[in-house]
Amino acid sequence: MKPMQPVRGTADLMPRQKSQMNIILQKASTVASRYGFQDMETPIFEFSEVFSRPLGESSDVVAKETYSFQDRGGSSLTLRPEGTASVMRALISNGLTQSLPQKFYYGGPMFRYERPQKGRMRQFHQIGCEYIGSFNPLADAEVIGCATQFLSELGVFDTCILHLNSLGDAESRDDYRASLVAFLSNYKNELSIDSQRRLNENPLRILDSKADEDREIIKDAPRLPAFLTTQAKHHFEQLTNALDKAGINWQLDTNLVRGLDYYSHTAFEFITDALGSQGTVLGGGRYDGLSAMLGGPDMGAVGFAAGVERLALLIEKNEEFTYDIAVVIVDDEVASDGFALAQNLRLQGFKTDIPMVPQVGKKLKRASLIGCELSFIIGKNEIKSDTIQVKIMTTGEQKQIGISQVISFATKFFKRELESNFSE
Ligand code: HAM
Repeated sequence: MKPMQPVRGTADLMPRQKSQMNIILQKASTVASRYGFQDMETPIFEFSEVFSRPLGESSDVVAKETYSFQDRGGSSLTLRPEGTASVMRALISNGLTQSLPQKFYYGGPMFRYERPQKGRMRQFHQIGCEYIGSFNPLADAEVIGCATQFLSELGVFDTCILHLNSLGDAESRDDYRASLVAFLSNYKNELSIDSQRRLNENPLRILDSKADEDREIIKDAPRLPAFLTTQAKHHFEQLTNALDKAGINWQLDTNLVRGLDYYSHTAFEFITDALGSQGTVLGGGRYDGLSAMLGGPDMGAVGFAAGVERLALLIEKNEEFTYDIAVVIVDDEVASDGFALAQNLRLQGFKTDIPMVPQVGKKLKRASLIGCELSFIIGKNEIKSDTIQVKIMTTGEQKQIGISQVISFATKFFKRELESNFSE
């Protein structure tokens, strides 16, 4: 039988990758909590409508990328392709619309049937923050501030540029859409096949097309800022003033429209050129209309999500797993004593291994390899005399101590309380 393979676009998180992911999740949750975003979690699947309307029936995510299925009860369910719609659904279903604002942090796997490549998976992980219940542009600034601090504490901020745009309110966008469609219709046959389809369904998405033929045409297209209403302009100005005052650098990107339909006003992405074509490590924006699309009241909201795998590609760091102590069993007859000693050390909080290779020399070698700083060597003679051999792996020093002293010796050693490790 051929060895089994993982499903295309999925990846096992082996200890190295998992350790990197833990570093990212820990940093994200620490930074998020400084801004008052509280950790929460939604189910991995939802009724399909939770995503279809808010994200847009014609958005790539809904039209081509969802993992949707009927369950045994006949309900149409979808594996979550992102977290924002689920978080908003959860806020409404948990009756929190009267206690706003609410600020949530979340992280976990997301699912999109995309063409896999470096930085693009079918099961990937996001961390995200959602600030729900405020129309104030300072909430946008808070969210962007949090994203900036997270990337900077992770050590990847320097490789990224913050791209910022305003999509305006519904009125701004309706006017702009009409003007854009009128312009692009002149070049209909020259647009890429995808963009020809988008011309009717979702013309704004053509702006971030990567196809060369589209980019050539888009160069001369009308720009969104010219269509912003006074109110939309004011929102954007207040946001950018706040970012400028706080020293957060940004770049206006009038082609930035984001791939999901629920956005209005602010849209932003942190983009790096260190990852090739999948350079957006973090994206977000304002989504004031989303609550109503899910049957909730009208409310302002803004947030971001970052791709954990993409961030992992940017950071080198990962924590190598190391042990503290090895229990080296010399004679098989005393194996149970060695096991009992190891258990006792673990109960006291020491990461302890019993090297399972033949011969004492090889066991000690293994102990060094896995990072043990101490080895307790136990054989027939030691058991007879209620003693144990201690070896300090870094210096090679070795001596005998009473078996009853093992825990206190290890405790002192790891607290580094002894002047010299053998002077008590
Ligand atoms: P998004 O731009 O679709 O936004 O995804 C956010 C981030 O998830 C991307 O910037 C990217 O780093 C990562 N990502 C997306 N798709 C993949 C993939 N197939 N493989 C690996 N990483 C991927 C959202 O999901 C919105 N919910 C963000 C948001 C929160 N807006 C407001 N609040």
